[in-house]
Amino acid sequence: MGVDESMSTENTYNYRVVSQFAIMTVVWGAVGMLVGVFIAAQMAWPQLNFDVSWLTFGRLRPLHTNAVIFAFGGSALFATSYYVVQRTCYVRLFSDKLAAFTFWGWQAIIVLAVVTLPLGVTTSKEYAELEWPIDVLIAVVWIAYAIVFFGTLIKRKIKHIYVANWFFGGFILTIAILHVVNSMAIPASFTKSYSMFAGVQDAMIQWWYGHNAVGFFLTAGFLGIMYYFIPKQANRPVYSYRLSVVHFWALVFTYIWAGPHHLHYTALPDWAQSLGMVFSIVLLAPSWGGMINGIMTLSGAWEKLRTDPILKFLIVSVSFYGMSTFEGPLMAIKTVNALSHYTDWTIGHVHSGALGWVGFVSMGALYYLIPRLFNREIYSLKLVEAHFWVATIGIVLYIVSMWIAGIMQGLMWRAVNPDGTLTYTFVESVQAMHPYYIIRFLGGAMFLAGMLMMAYNLYRTVVGAKPHEAAIPAAAH
Ligand code: HEM
Ligand code: HEM
Repeated sequence: MGVDESMSTENTYNYRVVSQFAIMTVVWGAVGMLVGVFIAAQMAWPQLNFDVSWLTFGRLRPLHTNAVIFAFGGSALFATSYYVVQRTCYVRLFSDKLAAFTFWGWQAIIVLAVVTLPLGVTTSKEYAELEWPIDVLIAVVWIAYAIVFFGTLIKRKIKHIYVANWFFGGFILTIAILHVVNSMAIPASFTKSYSMFAGVQDAMIQWWYGHNAVGFFLTAGFLGIMYYFIPKQANRPVYSYRLSVVHFWALVFTYIWAGPHHLHYTALPDWAQSLGMVFSIVLLAPSWGGMINGIMTLSGAWEKLRTDPILKFLIVSVSFYGMSTFEGPLMAIKTVNALSHYTDWTIGHVHSGALGWVGFVSMGALYYLIPRLFNREIYSLKLVEAHFWVATIGIVLYIVSMWIAGIMQGLMWRAVNPDGTLTYTFVESVQAMHPYYIIRFLGGAMFLAGMLMMAYNLYRTVVGAKPHEAAIPAAAH
């Protein structure tokens, strides 16, 4: 089935909460990326720590990751899932009050993160740094989200559940389980707790969580976005509906076992590491199933790519998804990981997924959504085009510099002289990184500049007077 919902009456939908989350996606994206650019500058020029504890790299790095993943990515997922579930089920959200609670609750969690992380209040578990009272709030808001989403699905007016909702639903359910299990802790005070798990079990649970935060938060949810917004913007049906269902089940089954690839050559039993490696390699297939399905949706309409910058964002995002899900399985092979682990190669991999896939697919969806939500014509398509190119060049500078830096680091650390001594000191490897850190900073600054161009363009769109009708020519329907 396609995604035509022309039989619905628009004013029956709750667009308020969708608009609120859409606007905050832009705001938190700009904030999170600004922090990213600042910590990138600190890596090149460490004096920028200013000897102020809350400005140090160690405190701001988790602020960056939380802001971009949970504030920017999270708001994008809330906005799009609430929009898509209403449009494809032909019903209003299950509860306006609960939906409003999820908006204000999620913003409160973000503000608490912005305050506590620079103060050094942290569990020190990556991507799960927030302390237990905030974790409790996250669980409550997430349950409310699940009730709104699944409640809406249950009261849908048609029998069929469109595939984007499968991905959103899988993401919501899995994140609930991951968050609750990984955050289990014994509080010692209001701002300090100790994990319920110890030693290697703690590490295993943490990376079961960490990898599936990638798999479900940064992947499954954003595939939900892909499955609605690419067909819409291209005005074509999904290339293969059967493939979308097959790769959904294959993806969720496989992802959940791949976490141990984060713990190669550690105290984790060797068989568990090998299991993680094998499942990571298998993961290439369902990942590429999604990528092929997204890109091939454009078959027969490739010429639209030339004229429609919003479609460029969406299609290039899927290409980056394909690239990072090829690189990931490669890095999960133990012998490759022996070189890549601890190096900037990992950082390059992260940001090809984060900027190229998560960033671009969200931007494409926002350019589609905001004019429609506010019933306005987009202020400038030329500016969208300029944003696309500035950001694309920014990503290339970021990831290529990190690939070179990472492989160079790995090779320098393992180089030995004929007498068995190390060829390079650690400091020499740090010095060798300097030019690449400057290039990464420039790439990041370009990506941020693009984000600010988008904020300006969307602001002018919202306050503009032009009605929506001709908003996005290629998507008119
Ligand atoms: C088939 C899919 C993928 C596989 C098998 C995979 C595999 C890997 C591997 C082996 C590492 C390095 C672990 C280490 O040495 O510590 C890694 C790191 C990472 N990947 Fe992927 N990756 C995949 C897709 C993605 C995508 C699409 C994203 C982003 C949207 C992503 C985000 C990350 C992040 C954030 C880390 C860093 C984790 C950390 O150490 O903090 N990955 N991935
Ligand atoms: C202007 C854009 C951005 C810049 C300049 C930037 C910069 C950085 C820097 C400098 C680090 C620390 C690297 C290190 O420890 O060596 C980092 C880490 C990270 N960033 Fe970004 N970032 C940007 C955007 C994003 C976005 C949009 C996302 C996610 C959607 C993201 C996700 C992450 C993650 C997950 C890590 C931790 C990686 C790991 O532990 O392996 N970043 N970023």
